[in-house]
Amino acid sequence: MDGVKVAGVSSLKEVVAKINGTKRIEPIVVDRENLFKSQMKYNVDFTDVKGQEQVKRALEVAAAGGHNVIMIGPPGSGKTMLAKRLPTILPDLVFDEALETTKIHSVAGILAEGKGLIATRPFRSPHHTISDAGLIGGGSVPKPGEVSLAHNGILFLDEFTEFKKNVLEVTRQPLEDCMVTISRAAISLSYPARFMLIAAMNPCPCGYATDPNNECTCTPQMIQKYMSRISGPLMDRIDIQIEVPAVLFTELADKEKGEASTIVRRRVQFARKIQLDRYNLKDGMFANSQMESNDLRKYCKLESKSANLLKIAMEKLGLSARAYDRILKVSRTIADMDDKEQIQPSHISEAIQYRSLDRKLWL
Ligand SMILES: Nc1ncnc2c1ncn2[C@@H]1O[C@H](COP(=O)(O)OP(=O)(O)OP(=O)(O)O)[C@@H](O)[C@H]1O
Ligand SMILES: [Mg+2]
Ligand SMILES: [Zn+2]
Repeated sequence: MDGVKVAGVSSLKEVVAKINGTKRIEPIVVDRENLFKSQMKYNVDFTDVKGQEQVKRALEVAAAGGHNVIMIGPPGSGKTMLAKRLPTILPDLVFDEALETTKIHSVAGILAEGKGLIATRPFRSPHHTISDAGLIGGGSVPKPGEVSLAHNGILFLDEFTEFKKNVLEVTRQPLEDCMVTISRAAISLSYPARFMLIAAMNPCPCGYATDPNNECTCTPQMIQKYMSRISGPLMDRIDIQIEVPAVLFTELADKEKGEASTIVRRRVQFARKIQLDRYNLKDGMFANSQMESNDLRKYCKLESKSANLLKIAMEKLGLSARAYDRILKVSRTIADMDDKEQIQPSHISEAIQYRSLDRKLWL
């Protein structure tokens, strides 16, 4: 807090002594800048992930445009590992964001002992058995839920198909409003909840439908039923669908270390700056993922070559109108990363690749 001098005392006697001037107690000085900087470190890094270049690129695109993501892959393909490292490539928190996140964690009573400030983006990974109150907040004196604890960071829903339908449905509202209001007889409270959603799932009940190293034991009917458990309303909010391929550990052993998070983050910040300049926080907008249909028409005008490419792909792959909007949004982000005002065919074709679930290539 600025403009206030704080001196620590251990007894009222000391207060009296201080006022009488018989004891000097120096105010405590905190170097805010230094404290903030020193707490900004993550204990995981993108460099830990070997290979998986396409998946890492997709996550970079997601980070650059603030897009929600679903990852589909067999057990052990690294979905959890990748998701955990996503905060490290997001733009650095600014001080006000850190304060906001800290306040929420403090209210929830989960601020670690001796920790004054959360200076890294939170990563929240609630188990699929969580209740809707646990997810969006609740209790007689309403406490923030996981969506608020993930504020300014990542909400990771692992084993996405295992979550109860009603629980997933309540996640839609904070995704749209970036905050939740919890009403009780005595009190109504609002908590901020602006987060990136990362979902993960297997391609089928046994998990191995996309894994060339393991045989899938599922029937087409079983897979169909499994897929139908994906929440439609929530999928509407997820721009990027990526397939995470299985990799043999022996393959990984030879691979070199991946790019460090700081380098990826620099590119992400570059693309975010372009978006911030474009939207200038008009209606609170700062990232491409927030575009509505009228914004799409304004900011994603396609030249005939790109428009044709997209049209052909839509027909060939049988994509829906919804998918069309998602592809436009994501290609805007890819063009920004490429520092191009005009969306080009290469940006479109990359964005089309991030529709794995629509294409369901393994079915
Ligand atoms: N690309 C990779 N580079 C380095 N290590 C990896 C990679 N992929 C997987 N691993 C190793 O394999 C372990 C398992 O990965 P992880 O738990 O992220 O898989 P998962 O896709 O989440 O599996 P599940 O579907 O069972 O949850 C990781 O902890 C990591 O040690
Ligand atoms: Mg996992
Ligand atoms: Zn299977």
